[in-house]
Amino acid sequence: MIHILTRTGWQLALALALVAPALAMSPAEQRGRSFARTNCAKCHSIDRFTESPLKIAPPFRTLHEHYPIETLAEALAEGISTGHPTMPQFQLEPDQINDFLAFLKSLEKRR
Ligand code: HEC
Repeated sequence: MIHILTRTGWQLALALALVAPALAMSPAEQRGRSFARTNCAKCHSIDRFTESPLKIAPPFRTLHEHYPIETLAEALAEGISTGHPTMPQFQLEPDQINDFLAFLKSLEKRR
């Protein structure tokens, strides 16, 4: 019996260690990240260290170096268009924008 409990304890600890990085993100950040992963990640790097798959697309972690992230909110609501033909136009709902900006901020603060 004790043996079984100990094993379960280890499995629990291991499971927690595996999900901990995801838990460190707020729900909004996680929603923003899954949005980015679905819609943006095939061109933009959405993490803290990789190159963008499409070299000319700026990694999301660098956006805040060019302008305050908040200024993107308006562009996202009205439909972001960078004038670059390879980037599709996006138009987001206010909730999606909040989530997405929360995610971008999470890239900023933990650099
Ligand atoms: C098909 C490839 C592609 C996808 C998908 C894509 N982008 Fe881009 N994005 C680009 C490229 C290329 C540029 C650089 C455009 C330029 O320099 O003119 C860019 C630039 C940007 C910029 C910088 C604009 C500026 O003026 O500084 C932002 C912000 C951006 N993308 C947001 C997004 C978001 C948000 C998504 C997902 C919802 C997304 N992109 C999806 C290709 C893409």
